[in-house]
Amino acid sequence: LSNLPRLKMKQPRLDYRNKIIMAPMVRVGTLPMRLLALEMGADIVYTEELVDLKLIKSLRRPNPALNTIDFVDPSDGTIVFRTCSLETSRVVLQLGTSDAARALAVGKLVQNDIAGLDINMGCPKEFSIKGGMGAALLSEPAKAAHILRTLTTHLDIPITCKIRILPDTLETIKLVQELAATGIAAIGIHARTRDERPQHHPHPDVLRAVASAVDIPIIANGGSRNMHTYEDLHKFQELCGADSVMVARAAQLNVSIFRKQGMLPIDEVICKYLRLCVDYDNAPHNSKYCVQSILKELQETPRGKRFLQCQTLQQICEIWGLGDYCRRKQQELKEHGNGGRANVIL
Ligand code: FNR
Repeated sequence: LSNLPRLKMKQPRLDYRNKIIMAPMVRVGTLPMRLLALEMGADIVYTEELVDLKLIKSLRRPNPALNTIDFVDPSDGTIVFRTCSLETSRVVLQLGTSDAARALAVGKLVQNDIAGLDINMGCPKEFSIKGGMGAALLSEPAKAAHILRTLTTHLDIPITCKIRILPDTLETIKLVQELAATGIAAIGIHARTRDERPQHHPHPDVLRAVASAVDIPIIANGGSRNMHTYEDLHKFQELCGADSVMVARAAQLNVSIFRKQGMLPIDEVICKYLRLCVDYDNAPHNSKYCVQSILKELQETPRGKRFLQCQTLQQICEIWGLGDYCRRKQQELKEHGNGGRANVIL
């Protein structure tokens, strides 16, 4: 028996129906936050948007010290994407791209380490639009469809995209039908147009019209303003007549929104988050950014001001009583030859 070739266990394909999903969020959706969202109850977690040009030149490096798979930029050693087996069956990598061949090359590089690949077709930021990525693809449906079809044809994992609604409902339905015909597994829809901002009310009625016109799973997004409890996530999903719901800002503020049993106080969330940052040697500036977005106006308190002075993960951990934990773990890492980040300055 031992001479038989080892068969790689094929994971069941990710199903996008009846799911509570953490939305893609630049800088927020790195490994520790994704793992915490899963621990809290999210079914699927998206990475932050990763741009194809950056990922395409990265090297896949298993990291035995951390038990992670790292995709590393060979020019400066930056970790472009870090993942681990705890999330492999539930993590969707979101890609920023304007080119089918590049997207496919990235897909081939990462597909064994993720559960799904999503193409960002909703980002209205200048950086994306100028590069023909994000919401630029909404006005080029043929190109958007070509990218998706290339991926669904040549990759083994489910492909999705995340769009915004168009100013006209029928046009939105037409676009979704065109994209659905490429064989994608689901479509995430932010219920705002490209020019609308977070302060504008979302349009669940448009999502409802789309959901009743197409067969593929619709993931409703854009209702975070009014989400304060776990039940609110389902209310928005129902309001949209959608198959699943995706949450960004409410999760950025307090990721325990995914917790069925009720939300946790932010200090408890920060402690859990920091432990994961230590466990996975997360970059201090990224950890600090995420804690800042949880603290918000509490940064004005004496403790908040002390936090803002912090330059290392060790210093941040001291504030939340995790100094010893951090020291011990970073020491273990150093002994493992990984060269922990204990002394990395922001
Ligand atoms: C975002 N959003 C976003 N969208 C996307 O497709 N890719 C991304 O990388 C990001 N990055 C990002 C960062 C941060 C900090 C925020 C708050 C948002 C948009 C996000 O996924 C979502 O579509 C909107 O925020 C609307 O959903 P909520 O916030 O109402 O749940």
